[in-house]
Amino acid sequence: MKNLILAIESSCDDSSIAIIDKNTLECKFHKKISQELDHSIYGGVVPELAARLHSEALPKILKQCKEHFKNLCAIAVTNEPGLSVSLLSGISMAKTLASALNLPLIPINHLKGHIYSLFLEEKISLDMGILLVSGGHTMVLYLKDDANLELLASTNDDSFGESFDKVAKMMNLGYPGGVIIENLAKNAKLKNISFNIPLKYSKELAYSFSGLKNAVRLEILKHENLSNDIKAEIAYAFENTACDHIMDKLEKIFNLYKFKNFGVVGGASANLNLRSRLQNLCQKYNANLKLAPLKFCSDNALMIARAAVDAYEKKEFVSVEEDILSPKNKNFSRI
Ligand code: KG4
Ligand code: ZN
Repeated sequence: MKNLILAIESSCDDSSIAIIDKNTLECKFHKKISQELDHSIYGGVVPELAARLHSEALPKILKQCKEHFKNLCAIAVTNEPGLSVSLLSGISMAKTLASALNLPLIPINHLKGHIYSLFLEEKISLDMGILLVSGGHTMVLYLKDDANLELLASTNDDSFGESFDKVAKMMNLGYPGGVIIENLAKNAKLKNISFNIPLKYSKELAYSFSGLKNAVRLEILKHENLSNDIKAEIAYAFENTACDHIMDKLEKIFNLYKFKNFGVVGGASANLNLRSRLQNLCQKYNANLKLAPLKFCSDNALMIARAAVDAYEKKEFVSVEEDILSPKNKNFSRI
């Protein structure tokens, strides 16, 4: 039976391929090769390096799942948003496969993919609030019961995950900063440093992390010798303020929208401090909190494959001749 969908994800610095059974949602294959170490020395993703590493890694992964080719019914690929040179690596491979195997091609929006990480093994549930926190985006969304997505809040500048990356870079701690800062914060002995919560006195339902990043920079400059203890103290104060900011605006949104269900997705949703605060907020407002498995919070092709199952049902196919590369986040208004 030809009921498997192969999906490719290469929007940033992870090369990943997954194969899902569209009838049972069983994951038949999933592999990811992360480039984090390669970019670590530069303190961020270098696009040209990312593209070269994708073109080495993707064929290696593809070789390992050839046995499933005879049962494929479609090829899916992340086509937006992301780094154009990275997206292109996945798109060219997807187009070649779709042509060679004569299969339909399904473009998938990366952020939609993150939302599907909540529903890897089940039917998608609509009518829920969603916090999306990744390296490129910070958004609060309302996934309405007609599958339309309403944007309730987003960031005016840096994203939540990106601010962790930048703070880690300022203290020469490596990339990506999320896990590094989270682990360092746990070692804080003194807790005397504090930062202002961004937009605390503004009615605007929006996020902003650039002022906080600047406050961290100024705090670092105060210390002639940045000892490990000071770094940990800064990491602790920064992480808590960033989480305070997310929760401050989120609580205002919870008061306006009486969510019964609330989900959190994106690479930074792995942050345990954030998760435990969300747990408390949902408890207070009687909402069910839905979390993606930790392994599938960061970029992966299984979430893309899962999104492609629903797109296949709706026949959201494109021709291989079509230019589907779209580095900006264009088609993100519907699930
Ligand atoms: O979704 P993702 O894998 O890639 C994008 O689509 O951007 O998210 C990666 C981002 C990075 O900025 C990384 O530092 C952040 O998620 N991140 C975290 C944590 N784990 C990953 N941020 C805070 N705490 C974490 N534990
Ligand atoms: Zn992502």
